[in-house]
This record gives sequence, C-alpha cells and structure tokens, in this order.
Amino acid sequence: MPIMNVADKFEKVSEMARRRGFFWPSYEIYGGVSGFINWGPLGSIMKRKIEDKFRDIFLRRLNFYEIESPIIAPERVFKASGHVDHFKEPMVECTKCRRKFRADHLLQEIAELSSQETDRMGLSEIWEEIERHSIKCPDCGGELSEPKYFLTMFQTTIGPYSESIGYGRPEAAQGIFVEFKRLYEQVRERLPIGFAQIGHALRNEISPRQGPIRLREFTIIDLEFFFDPEKPQCPLLDEVADEKLRLVLAENRLKGDETPIELKVRDIVAKGYVMVEWHAYFMALAKRFVASLGIPDDRQRFIEKHPWERAHYSAQGFDQEVYLDRWGWVEVAGFNYRTDYDLKGHMRESGVDMRVFKPSDKETVRVEVKIKPLIQNIGRAFGERAAEVLGILQNINPQALLTAFNENGFYEVNGLKITPEHVEVTKVEVREKGKHFIPHVIEPSFGSDRLAYAALEYAYSVKEDRVVLRLPRDIAPIQLAVLPLVNRDGLPEKARAVYKLLINEGYMVEYDESGYIGRRYARFDEIGVPLCITIDYQTLKDETVTIRDRDTWRQVRTEINRLPYLLHDFFRYKINFEDLGEPVEKQ
Ligand code: GLY
Repeated sequence: MPIMNVADKFEKVSEMARRRGFFWPSYEIYGGVSGFINWGPLGSIMKRKIEDKFRDIFLRRLNFYEIESPIIAPERVFKASGHVDHFKEPMVECTKCRRKFRADHLLQEIAELSSQETDRMGLSEIWEEIERHSIKCPDCGGELSEPKYFLTMFQTTIGPYSESIGYGRPEAAQGIFVEFKRLYEQVRERLPIGFAQIGHALRNEISPRQGPIRLREFTIIDLEFFFDPEKPQCPLLDEVADEKLRLVLAENRLKGDETPIELKVRDIVAKGYVMVEWHAYFMALAKRFVASLGIPDDRQRFIEKHPWERAHYSAQGFDQEVYLDRWGWVEVAGFNYRTDYDLKGHMRESGVDMRVFKPSDKETVRVEVKIKPLIQNIGRAFGERAAEVLGILQNINPQALLTAFNENGFYEVNGLKITPEHVEVTKVEVREKGKHFIPHVIEPSFGSDRLAYAALEYAYSVKEDRVVLRLPRDIAPIQLAVLPLVNRDGLPEKARAVYKLLINEGYMVEYDESGYIGRRYARFDEIGVPLCITIDYQTLKDETVTIRDRDTWRQVRTEINRLPYLLHDFFRYKINFEDLGEPVEKQ
C-alpha cells in the first residue's frame, strides 16, 4: 500500500486505522459528530487486549476484582461525589456564529498561556485575559461572549419523571464507591483491597477536536484501591523499588522547570515525594504496563499536579503522560490519592454507614444510636409508601438521622419527610475491641482509547516504503496468518489443515490464499500480524512450514507438530523469533 503524502503521524495512523478497521470517527454518514469514535474489527480486539493486560497486571496478580455497574446514576450519586458542584469547564460562545469553545483552551492555544496558568483562573480572570489578548472566534473572527461554566456531565431523566434527574457517569469510580459496603463483605472484609471497573464514561466536552484523544464517550479503566490510613506502607514495594520513574515535580513546575527527574521508586518514597507508598507502587506498575504497549520509557513521564489542577477529590495527584507526535505530552492515566472523600460523601448523602471495623486489643467505648421504626405511625403517615420508609430506616446510619433531627427537626429523602414521631431513638454504650474507620483510596485510572491510540502511533513504522505495524506481539489483534505459497497443487488444502490446528489452539488466525505472497505479507505487516506461516512444496514432503517475522522479514523453518508449544512460548515472551526454527536463506 503506497504511503499517502500526509502531514503528521496522527494523520497517517488515522488513515491506516480507518482503512484497515482499527478506529474512525462515528456517524460519518450523517456528517459526523465530534468526540465520538468507533473501534473497528481489529481495533476492538487490540483495545480489549490492552484492557486484558491491565486486568492481568493490576487485578489477577494482586488478587483484586472487577465489577460492572450502570452508566446512568441518579443525581444524588453525583451530588455526593462532588461532581454536580465541580465537574465544570469555562466556556465562551461566539456572538456571531454561535460556536462554543473551552475558554481555557483558547487562552492556551492563542495567548500561549500554560495550563498551569489557566487552571487557576476564575471566570473574571479568564475574561480579562481574553480581552487583553483581543481573542476572537477562531472560526469566524466574531466577538466572544463572557465566559461561563458549563457542567460537562450528560444529564438525562430516569423514566418519564422530569424531576428524576440522572447523569451519565463521567468516571466508573462512583459505581465502586456506592457499592463499597457490599463489595467489602464479599471479599470477607479484607483490606487493602482493590476493585476496578472498565467501561464507558461520558463527558460532554465543549469542543473536542482531537480525534481519539478527547472523546465525549470513552472507555475508562478505574481501579479504586482501599486501604487503612493507619497502615499506608506497601509491602510489595520491593518488587518495584529499582524501577526508575521520570517525575516532573510540582515544586519544579512552579519554577518553570518541566524537566523530568529520574528517580528510583525507593528514592521517591524515601524523599517523601508521595504521601502514600502505594501511590508510587501503582505508578511503577503503570510505567511497566505502558512500556509493554510499545511506548519507550523516555517517552513517558509523571507530572505532579498543583492543588488547583487536581480533581476536587484529590489530595495528591500525578498524571502519566506519553509523547504523541501531534499533541506533545498527553495524559493517558491519572494517579490520585482520593483519601476518604468519596466514601464520606456517600455516607453523608445516603445515610449508610461506609465505615469498616478494625479489631485490636484496645477496648474502646462508644455511644451507639439505635433506631426502632414505629410501624403504626409510619403506616398512618406514609400510607402506600410506608414500605419505602422502612427500607430507608433499615439502611440509614442512625447517627445521620439523629443529626438531621437535631439540625432540621426532620430527615428528608425522595420527598419523604421522616420525623421523630416515626422512630424510637435510643442510645446504648458499646464496648468493643477495635475501631470503626473509613478506608482511604488511591486511584490509578487509565484512558483505554488513548492507550490504544498511543500503542498504534508507536507501532506505526515504515520499511522499504511500506507500513509495518510493530505492535507488541501480545496486543496484536491477529496473531498469525496462514498462507499457501500458491493457490494450487494441494497447498491450500494443507494450509487449511494448519489453519484449523492453530484455531483449535486458541489463536486469532487469518487464512489467505489470494494473490502474490509478497502482497499478502505486506497486508499482514500493515495490520501488525507478528508471524506469517507459509505452506510451500517442501511442506508436502516433510511436514515443515516457514515462519516469517513481521519486523525483520526473516524466516525460519519448523515442523508443524512443534507449532503449538513453540507459539505458546513465543506469544508469552518466553522465546524469541530465532528460537522458532532453523533459519531459512532468503529466496
Ligand atoms: N476516575 C478518574 C477520573 O475521573 O479521571
């Protein structure tokens, strides 16, 4: 396939990705809608393999679990999580053509301010800067309106009730926090423990113009790692202690210095650059994970965020960035110390006790508030909705109820006003050996689409005027191609038998008997197939095949019956291409 004369790697990768079925913009037959992409037949497999790699490194090996929760959540979830108040971006509108823009992005692109500067500006400062730099609409040159905040969550109504507001989740994390109590019981009250979610998230970006890098609907990989804040030490630290991370510290960024300092994880912890050891541990795993997708260490860095750049729930945050040809450094993951912010928020909003209990030798005495529903009074007051009230009282944190009674004289939820007449409140002294506390959270969170795009960009290479997609062998969507050298003389039949053998071994295999062998190799190189297995005349004599390496185009010859275990080891990086057979002189 001739290479098109296009401007940059993004365009080259996008052109190949669209033609070959990795990704392309959605809804093209209707003119397209920015911020949405499709992952095609090959892209979907590759993206899923990247997600499976996350599962292997961050879940299976650590004995953590994955869950799936809904994409839509009622408003209360995002009130509790702080998103209703904080998940906003500054927006300006062109008074002439009515296009809307992210005000901070315009300041970055046109006035060349840094995100460090724009992130700490309020609306009035943004407006001053827009006026000072005489920024006009980039599309039509029209005057811009004063900026205002735009809530970037997608709002909907749940069912036909306009008052029942719901939001599309902007992160998968809340689905884990909301269910924490039950999940904690299901793992037999084990701490530390991690729960992850890989799924679609929605963010109503104001003007996304960066293909797969800024999407309105994307796949997020959120891992919520819960730990006892009195035991912040990471016993697994030795496994990564010598791993070097390239850190850009907030204190250096303040001085205008964005040069990364390369530090071993043990030194990052010893120097106190992270508040919690686990933070450094997960960043080290993430560096290895991203490197295994084909992104070299020196094209990765971790940026420490300033307080004003951090999400509202974060006490300390680092972004993992990779270098992309068109956009420079781009975030692919965030690592935030979320403390007990989220569980506390849901405890406050729902009234459900999110604390866990830690036994110890020390006896503590506490006063426990107990509530007993007064069934008759509840029945009289709430009629048909009495059962709903009983359900609420069963789950509520009695202390939260008592506080609401003391502050307001009632507790209100879902339009139900519960008053002291509906319950009997008693206080009992409880002696116990141990204490209750809310676990703290470190969150590694990856953007799956960005990782997949970055893997494609780094794999994209050109050899002798042809595209070779050098994807790491364990994320290549098609692992093997089986090709009869020519389409006659019994070679296709033999090739089909080999194809069947490899399919039954569990590989993703393509069979292709059409056209010249060189053209077939070129097609498989372009979609990143690591090995092509060719059946030739010698195969019919001695049951051997040639195996061709995508990256070097070298060939080896090996017996068909050795393929299953050789390939097993090859795809698990236990052996290299040279170990697959005897070298073949190039014909
Ligand atoms: N849960 C990570 C994020 O919202 O970015």
